[in-house]
This record gives sequence, C-alpha cells and structure tokens, in this order.
Amino acid sequence: MPAKIIDGKEVSSKFIEDIKKKVKGLKEKPGLAVVLVGNNPASEIYVGFKEKKSQEVGFYCERYNLDEGVKEDELLKLVDELNQNKKIHGMIVQLPLPKRINENLIIDAILPHKDADGFTPVNLGNLVNDNNMLVPATARACLELIKSTGVEIKGRNAVVVGRSNIVGKPTALLLMQENATVTICHSKTKNLKEHTKNADILVVACGKAKLIKKNMVKPGAIVIDVGINRVAGKIAGDVDFENVKEVAGYITPVPGGVGPMTIAMLLDNTVKAMELGKGVLK
Ligand code: GUN
Repeated sequence: MPAKIIDGKEVSSKFIEDIKKKVKGLKEKPGLAVVLVGNNPASEIYVGFKEKKSQEVGFYCERYNLDEGVKEDELLKLVDELNQNKKIHGMIVQLPLPKRINENLIIDAILPHKDADGFTPVNLGNLVNDNNMLVPATARACLELIKSTGVEIKGRNAVVVGRSNIVGKPTALLLMQENATVTICHSKTKNLKEHTKNADILVVACGKAKLIKKNMVKPGAIVIDVGINRVAGKIAGDVDFENVKEVAGYITPVPGGVGPMTIAMLLDNTVKAMELGKGVLK
C-alpha cells in the first residue's frame, strides 16, 4: 500500500486559524521583523512567504532588505534597533548570511524573548534543558507533522539525517523529549542505510536532493523531508518521493509538507515572543 501523504498545508491551516483568532482578540498586533541580507533567490522566496503569511494572520510586519555588502556592525545596529523597537515583538535574520559575517555574533545579539527563530544560545540552551521557550520553527514543524499521523512516538527509533543547529539538532532534541530513541546521522556517517533502515521515524534535513531511496527506508516508516533543492529547474526534497512512497507508511511532499508548517510555527513563535516580552509567559 502506498504511503499516506502528510499534507503540510492542511495540518498547518489549523494552527493558522487558531493564530488568526488569537490575534483578533488582542489589543495590539504581534509585530514581526524580517531581515534579509543580499539576494539569494531561495532566501528571497522564503522571506516573501514569511512576510505575506504574517500579514495574512493580522501581524504588523517590517521587512528589511540589506545589501550583500552590508558591514557586520550595520547589521548588529539594526538588530539592536529592533531589540528596542516596541512595535516589534519577534525578529528573524534569514540565514545563511554572507560568509564574511559572523552568524553566531548576529544571532547572539537578538534578545532571547524577541528570537522568533529560537536560534539564540539562551533559547537553544533552554531546549537542551527541556525548558522550551522559543523553539526553532522547522524542528517544531517536523514534530507536529509526525504527531499529525497519530502514531505514538514514545519508544520508537527516530533517525535524523543532518546535524544543523537550525534543524537537525533541535529536531533530535524534541524527539528525545517525546521519548523516541534518537540517532543523528550526517555527511560523515558510514553506512547511512544501516541507520535509516532502522527508523520508525525518519527526518531528513541534509540538503542532498533525492538522497533517500526506498531501499533505505523501513516499511511503514514516517518520513519527513525537510530538503528543498533545485534540480533541473524543479524543486526536489532530500527524499526521492516517488520511489520512497512505495514503502513508507507516511511521507511529506516537497513542496507542501514541512515548508507551510514551518511558517505556521514561526507565526506561533511570534505570538509567544510577544507574550514573553509582556511577561504573560514565563
Ligand atoms: N534559513 C533556512 N531556514 C531558516 C529559518 O528557519 N530561519 C532563518 N532565519 N533562516 C533560515
């Protein structure tokens, strides 16, 4: 039996509707600032979606497009201004930044309660301590999509392919919090297939188009594909969808899987950031 498709648009729409309702009941609009440096075409598209969706749910949104050649100091100054800006409750600085800019320095300058991406050391540290505050949106998206299947996570073998700070590591932490047995694989892992074949839950976020084939997947597994790659003018995930759907139990498509869910989680984080800033959440 072919896999059931996990429809990210459908799952995210419930979250979006809840956010819209919540925003309607608020005296002040949640404010999100979106910062883009340079003109990486993929980043421009992602940032465009974030801006559009945030306006759709009734947020106040400020977008900043900085020149590719912007100085680190100027970017730090903008982050600092946004930290002080009372209309802005959450901000994101789209990654990757140009190589000459120290990403950690920029992220660390964001006030933790305005860190809508959950990338600052304070928010990632809280996640490690099982004291979740603002958690990276893509990791939250993966977990919600897994939960949407109704399959119990506790005690399952979860394999995360990719060890980035923004997806792989936080996703592994969230799955551990759900009592999965988690393995993290990466570009230097030997015999990747031996690990992935063992996964009841397989999350792939390594940026290699169609890396995962059906002979690497356990029959009935939940497969979450975070990859967005451009292959011959088309978008492809890190999972060979047409091939893997023959054996997986559940699978996310690309596009239409993790992407829309990530945006919903970013918006949810922004509302949370506003509540944290006002001391509603502790
Ligand atoms: N680049 C790829 N994914 C993300 C994300 O979730 N947030 C930011 N800021 N940059 C990214």
